[in-house]
Amino acid sequence: MSVESLIGYGIHTKPTYIFGRSIEQTQKESGTGDILALGSNENAYGPSPKAVEAIVEAAVQAHRYPDPVNLKLKQKLADRYGFTIEEVAIANGSADIMGVISRIFVCPGDEVVVANPTFSEYRDKAVFNQGTPVVVDLPEDTYELDLDRMYEAVTDRTKLVWVCNPNNPTGVPVNGDELEAFIRRLPEHVVAIVDEAYIEFADDPSVRTMLPLVRDHNLIILRTFSKIYGLGAMRVGYSIARREISDCINSTVTSFAVATPAVEAACAAFDDQEYLQMVRDGISEGRRYLRREFEALGWKVYPSQTNFLFVDAHMPSAELADRLAAQGIVIRGNFRYPRITVGTKEDNRRLAEACRKIAEEEK
Ligand SMILES: Cc1ncc(COP(=O)(O)O)c(C=O)c1O
Repeated sequence: MSVESLIGYGIHTKPTYIFGRSIEQTQKESGTGDILALGSNENAYGPSPKAVEAIVEAAVQAHRYPDPVNLKLKQKLADRYGFTIEEVAIANGSADIMGVISRIFVCPGDEVVVANPTFSEYRDKAVFNQGTPVVVDLPEDTYELDLDRMYEAVTDRTKLVWVCNPNNPTGVPVNGDELEAFIRRLPEHVVAIVDEAYIEFADDPSVRTMLPLVRDHNLIILRTFSKIYGLGAMRVGYSIARREISDCINSTVTSFAVATPAVEAACAAFDDQEYLQMVRDGISEGRRYLRREFEALGWKVYPSQTNFLFVDAHMPSAELADRLAAQGIVIRGNFRYPRITVGTKEDNRRLAEACRKIAEEEK
């Protein structure tokens, strides 16, 4: 019997996640040893040295299974944000929790409202569970999330509504007051998920977390240690939701999925607020610098509150990605516009110079 006839629905339909251009391949193609990786929205400053220390210290305990309930990290998160540990769930990256949420809530035929463009996992995981994605296209002139249209897309069959704030791949934030009003308006049969993977990079006071709404709504907040905390390789993400929802997530995530060094690193990084502030300031400054540089070339930069910029460089995004790769710089070139991660001061200067060269060649 063929395997094809045995496998479940999700495997048949799941679109494959498109990864960015590989560093190794770019190295080979460009002949440049010094590759600048600006394709995956990683924290260019790296993790806090305290997190690195914690990883090394935890390594000697590698023969022991991790704490199955991740109490230490849950307690820190609960204390900082004013929740109980039962309202927190920890998993192997927040992308893992996205799959868990879909598995818990999406039944065949349920509708799942998502924006386009946004993080692809929301839609893909809905399809995997035989849900029907209801896609709300964002206007190309602003890429602002149209919450009225998202609300209009909600029907009796809607189970989940996903909001990425600020959004990936555009970097564009949602106004906090408007998002709060949207969540308050949603009918009770709908679970809203607000993915705040990049919210710690925001410096505009109108961008704010929806955590205060969690207790009174069917609302799940997703956060990650992969971005501002610089721990993408460690794979730690978390959700905060009211107890009833959180219990479902906690009982569905894979047991022992988060390795002890990863949890210890997350704890240490979470405590190192001074380092975090340095990263936040550096990225904000870099974001402003790159915006000025790109605008000076006549390129359109969408307003970003993240560590990346969505840039209309007046050429196909794959072309800019190819031309930067020839100079040893990796960006994401498979969206409508190129998505470029903000790096360190030195990274940003190198990127700006490479872009100037490309713009010059266009003349
Ligand atoms: C919006 C958004 N959410 C979540 C993630 C994934 O986070 P994690 O590494 O915790 O799985 C990403 C990664 O790029 C992202 O862009």
